[in-house]
Amino acid sequence: MTDSKAPLQGPVLGIESSCDETGVAVYESGRGLLAHALYSQIALHAEYGGVVPELASRDHVRKLLPLLRQTLAEGGLKISDLSAVAYTAGPGLIGALLVGASVARSLAWALEIPAIGVHHMEGHLLAPLLEESAPGTEPLAPPFVALLVSGGHSLLVGVDRIGSYTILGDTLDDAAGEAFDKTAKLMGLPYPGGPALAKIAEDGDPKAYRFSRPMTDRPGLDFSFSGLKTQVLMAWRDSNRTDFTKANIARGFEEAIVETLAIKCRRALAQTGYRRLVVSGGVGANKRLRTQLAHAGQREGFHTYFPRLAFCTDNGAMIALAGSIRLAAGQTTGPEIKVLPRWDLQTLPEVP
Ligand code: KG4
Ligand code: ZN
Repeated sequence: MTDSKAPLQGPVLGIESSCDETGVAVYESGRGLLAHALYSQIALHAEYGGVVPELASRDHVRKLLPLLRQTLAEGGLKISDLSAVAYTAGPGLIGALLVGASVARSLAWALEIPAIGVHHMEGHLLAPLLEESAPGTEPLAPPFVALLVSGGHSLLVGVDRIGSYTILGDTLDDAAGEAFDKTAKLMGLPYPGGPALAKIAEDGDPKAYRFSRPMTDRPGLDFSFSGLKTQVLMAWRDSNRTDFTKANIARGFEEAIVETLAIKCRRALAQTGYRRLVVSGGVGANKRLRTQLAHAGQREGFHTYFPRLAFCTDNGAMIALAGSIRLAAGQTTGPEIKVLPRWDLQTLPEVP
């Protein structure tokens, strides 16, 4: 990332293609989100029970330009109105990332405007800024703690300032979304399992099954979810496997994950002394998690911030927003097409 002095402003295009969603959006500082479109590849990968990287890349190739045209039309924008192009540069699937990066970089080159390679998790972390703060509530600003829970990550991040991130806790094995997906799969639920499991858990009895709250009995902010999956496997194998039991096991599993995440969030707030909590990433769409944390905040005096449900999972809007913030700071990316399938959030430059 290079630093140039004069902050540039105007509509910023955002392109997300790190995994199995193609997202395109336009965000402008001072005006907000002007348009966004999303294409999910869920149906494509469902028959394989998980994301097939090569199929994901090819589908991004097919969908990206039509989505771009659709987004510009929705926002009443011409391509020449764009002032920069932001794209997810990592972490994610290398082929999928390369599709977004190549399109973004080529567009920026042709339009002679800057390109900004955005860290996917910074996108998730800033996504609540896409929402208007409710009247009477404190607007979101650092310092805060962010719980980023998706299919690939379970992170607790200390956000000192935008761009200045400290990983307070990480998962030692499965990410929270991965645990939802694998557990759902072993009970025969369709891919992606997280939303499917959460749906049937609504009818379950929270007291029927009690699974452990991993790593909450010792100090620290790391997570481990793979043992929970094994507990569910054993409970499921030994059960009568009726829909009624399935709902009860799903509910017990969801309660265990949600309570574990909530305990660690409170711990992270106590450790940092911060009073604001952001919850984002695909699992941030889980209603029980949102309700439990919002209630804990009201009881214990911290503020909770969530993106709307559609912006918890991968989307172009969060990339356009993060790109717009980086653009205003003069932090743009060089002319090379470079992606980082692994990328430490803590290495990002601070936004002055
Ligand atoms: O952020 P995201 O769209 O993609 C990644 O960057 O991984 O997150 C997808 C993950 C999947 O594991 C999915 O099952 C999970 O988020 N997820 C949920 C819910 N909605 C999505 N997990 C639990 N409850 C939900 N309502
Ligand atoms: Zn994500």
